[in-house]
Formats: sequence, C-alpha cells, structure tokens
Amino acid sequence: MQSRMNVISLLMTLLCFCGTSTSCPSGCSCNVNRTDCSDLNQLASLDSILNQLPFDTSYLNLSNNNFTTVEPGSFSNFSILLHLDLSRNLLSTINPGCLSNLSSLLHLDLSRNLLSSLSPSSFSHLNNLEVLDLSENLLARLPVNLFSGLGSLRELVLRDDRLKELNPDQFKGLTELRRLDLSFNSLSSVPTHLLDGLQNLVWLSLMGNKLRTLQQTSLEPATALQHLLLEGNPWNCNCNLISLKHWLEWITYTGGSVDSANCSLPANLHGKDLRTIPMEMFRHCYPLYLETRNPSAADGHQVPPGSAGDCMRQRYRTVSVRRATATVVVAGVVCGVVCVMMVVTATYGCIYAMLMAHEQQQLIEGNSQQQQPLMVAKEPEQDEKEDLMPTIGKGAEAKECVGWMAFPPEVCV
Ligand SMILES: *[C@@H]1O[C@H](CO)[C@@H](O)[C@H](O)[C@H]1NC(C)=O
Ligand SMILES: *[C@@H]1O[C@H](CO)[C@@H](O)[C@H](O)[C@H]1NC(C)=O
Ligand SMILES: *[C@@H]1O[C@H](CO)[C@@H](O)[C@H](O)[C@H]1NC(C)=O
Ligand SMILES: *[C@@H]1O[C@H](CO)[C@@H](O)[C@H](O)[C@H]1NC(C)=O
Ligand SMILES: *[C@@H]1O[C@H](CO)[C@@H](O)[C@H](O)[C@H]1NC(C)=O
Ligand SMILES: *[C@@H]1O[C@H](CO)[C@@H](O)[C@H](O)[C@H]1NC(C)=O
Repeated sequence: MQSRMNVISLLMTLLCFCGTSTSCPSGCSCNVNRTDCSDLNQLASLDSILNQLPFDTSYLNLSNNNFTTVEPGSFSNFSILLHLDLSRNLLSTINPGCLSNLSSLLHLDLSRNLLSSLSPSSFSHLNNLEVLDLSENLLARLPVNLFSGLGSLRELVLRDDRLKELNPDQFKGLTELRRLDLSFNSLSSVPTHLLDGLQNLVWLSLMGNKLRTLQQTSLEPATALQHLLLEGNPWNCNCNLISLKHWLEWITYTGGSVDSANCSLPANLHGKDLRTIPMEMFRHCYPLYLETRNPSAADGHQVPPGSAGDCMRQRYRTVSVRRATATVVVAGVVCGVVCVMMVVTATYGCIYAMLMAHEQQQLIEGNSQQQQPLMVAKEPEQDEKEDLMPTIGKGAEAKECVGWMAFPPEVCV
C-alpha cells in the first residue's frame, strides 16, 4: 500500500509539473524568469504566443520568427519585462502603444526587421530603456522626437540603416548616452549641434557613410568622447579638414582611439590617412584655416558641395600666379643686368678696336714706304707686335700698379 501511494503521489507530482509547463508555448524554453521563443519555426502569430507566456518573465526572446506586426497592447501584461528581443522578424512598423506599459524595459532589440518608418511616440513610455538596437532596418529618416522620452538610454544602435540626414535635435536629451552607432548609413553631413548635450558620449561610429567633411565644432560638445570611428567615408582632405585633423591628434594624445580616415580627395592624398598626413601638406591653407575656425563659417551644411575643392584650386592658382610673377621680375632684372653688361663690353670692345685700328693704320702707313713682299712683311709685323706689346703693357700696367719692385725681373705689386 505504502509503495502504491508513493507511486501515485509521484505521478501526481509529474502531472502537476506537466500542467505548469504547458504555460510555456511549444518550441519555447521557459526557465524561471527567462523565456526563449526564438527560432520557433512555426506559423503562430505573436499574440497567440504571448497569450501562453507567463507574465512574470523578465527576459523574452522572440528573435527570428518572421512576425510581421505587433498589435497595440500586446505586451501590456509584461510589466516587469527587462529584456525584449524582437530581432530578425518581418516587422515593418512599431505602432504607438505597441510597447506601452514596458516602463521597466532596459534592453530592446528590433534589429534586422523591415522597419521603414516609426511614429514619434513608438518608444515614448520606455523611461528606463538603456539599450535600443534599430540596426539593419530600412529607416531613411527618423521622427525628431523619437528618442526624446529615453532619458536613461546608454546605447543607441542605428547601424546599417538608410539614414541620409539627421535633425540637429535628433539626440536631444540623451544625457546618459555612452555609445552611438551611426555606421553604414548614407549620411553626407553631421549637423553642428547633433551632439550637443551628449556629455557622456564615449564611443561614436560614423564609419561607412558618405561624409566628405566633418567639423571639429560638431564633435566638441561630446566632451567625454574617447573612441571615434571614421573609416569608409570619402573624406575630402582639403583645408576644411584641418580642424578635424587637429582634433583627432588631440583625442589620440589624451589616450583615446581613432581609426583611419583615408582621404578620397584631393587626388594627391588619395588613400592617405588624414591622421598621418604631415601638416606641411596643408601649409597653403593657413589663412583659410583661420577663417574656418570662425564658428559662423564652420557649419558643414553651409559649405556647398565642391566649393572646398574650388577653394583649394583657387589657392593653388594664386600661389602659382604669384610664383610666375616673381619669376618674370627676377628674369627681367637678370636680363637687364646682362644687357647693360653686354652694352658696356661692346662699347669698350669697339673703342679698343678703334684705338688698335688707328695705331695699326699709323704703323702700316710708316711701313708701306718700304714696299716689301707680303711674305717678308710678316716678320716686321711680328717685330712690331713685340715692340708694341711692351709699350701697351707698360702703359696699362703703369696706371694700375702701385709701385715697381727693383729686383730683376721687375714685378708689379
Ligand atoms: C530572474 O530572477 C532572479 C530572481 O528571481 C534574478 O536574480 C535574476 O537576475 C533574474 N534573471 C533575469 C534574466 O532577469
Ligand atoms: C521565415 O521565412 C522564410 C521565407 O520567407 C523561411 O525560409 C524561414 O524558414 C522562416 N522562418 C521561420 C522561423 O519561420
Ligand atoms: C535570442 O535568440 C537568438 C537565437 O537563438 C540569439 O541569437 C540571440 O542572441 C538571443 N537574444 C538574446 C538577447 O539573448
Ligand atoms: C492580460 O492578462 C489578462 C488576464 O490576466 C487577459 O485577460 C488579457 O487578455 C491579457 N492581455 C493581453 C494583451 O494578452
Ligand atoms: C498598463 O499598466 C497600468 C498599470 O501600471 C494598467 O493600469 C494598464 O491597464 C496597463 N495598460 C494596459 C494596456 O494593459
Ligand atoms: C586606409 O589606408 C591604410 C594605409 O594607408 C590601409 O592600410 C587601410 O586598409 C585603408 N583603409 C581603408 C578602409 O581603405
């Protein structure tokens, strides 16, 4: 009897155990406050699954189930939920009220869905949310107030979306934000005031966007920034990037890290890392650099595309024009001097030749009376020269020499 009673009680316990476990939908694993309904591989709707779940779960994984919609109020009974993973589904929007009553939620993963638009109040009740992952969706623009209720947010992932531009107030009020991932979007500018008030931001990625320029003034409000990722942008390393280069050097010097920022333009700096380009290459920028440090001229938006390149070209042009002018002036002066020297030399030569001719003529006139044959006439000419040279030489030397030494031979001092 005793053993039979034991067997019955054991069966009862097993039945009871099986009874409680039915509150976990098939395919899910439910452990205390942790419910994993990822990869269900069945055509159940989200609501039918949620209806079978224990409400006291604090961790809920609904990843990879091809869910297409979340109905308003679906999660309203999960008021102690801390961690919700809805990644890798087919959600195209998050309607207002879908996530209401999840005010305890700390971590929300909506990555790898088909989200293309979000209503401004999608996340408005998630006062305690610390991590929001919206990566790998189709978001081209975000409502300005989308994150305004998320005062506790520490990490925001907008990686691999289709963002083309951001409103300067997009991240307003996210004073606790530490990590901001904007990589692999289509951003062509960073608004000057985008990071205003993000005084706790430590890590920022702008990798893989379409940024050609970035002003130091855009980064300065993020006073705690230590890690910056800039790779994979078509940086135009002209004078406008000098302030960024200085800022990158400063961040590195203060113990932070910056990845490479390889230049696309200008052609002579193509593929070169902005951080390692010697300042000497930006020497021509200096007057311009002082202008760009003026905050009114520093807004990335206000620089029309291509103007920076034009500006650079103009500087090159003025420099080359200046050089050409200098060359002409120098050449002119040298030519003038040479010409004057030539004229002087020619005049001197002429006068000398005339004098010589005159003397020669006098000598010939004297000799012509002898009427000697041409061959014989050469000897007296040589003699004449021998006779002439000392007289000319002595005459010329006499003017220049200070005195004559008495030693033989006579030496001019
Ligand atoms: C589950 O609850 C226990 C206490 O009941 C808590 O210590 C643990 O952190 C919780 N786990 C999760 C994932 O919330
Ligand atoms: C999701 O849908 C794809 C096809 O659209 C299918 O291959 C995949 O198995 C589905 N996943 C689940 C979990 O149902
Ligand atoms: C949810 O489940 C998926 C698939 O099993 C897993 O890759 C993912 O890391 C889980 N999410 C969390 C937050 O643990
Ligand atoms: C919440 O729970 C109550 C009962 O506890 C139930 O009647 C209601 O349908 C649930 N709401 C949702 C949205 O599942
Ligand atoms: C949200 O929670 C409050 C209590 O905190 C409750 O009164 C309200 O009915 C809940 N909303 C929904 C839609 O269940
Ligand atoms: C940037 O340039 C460095 C060397 O100049 C190279 O090693 C690196 O792969 C380049 N990065 C990219 C993303 O092209």
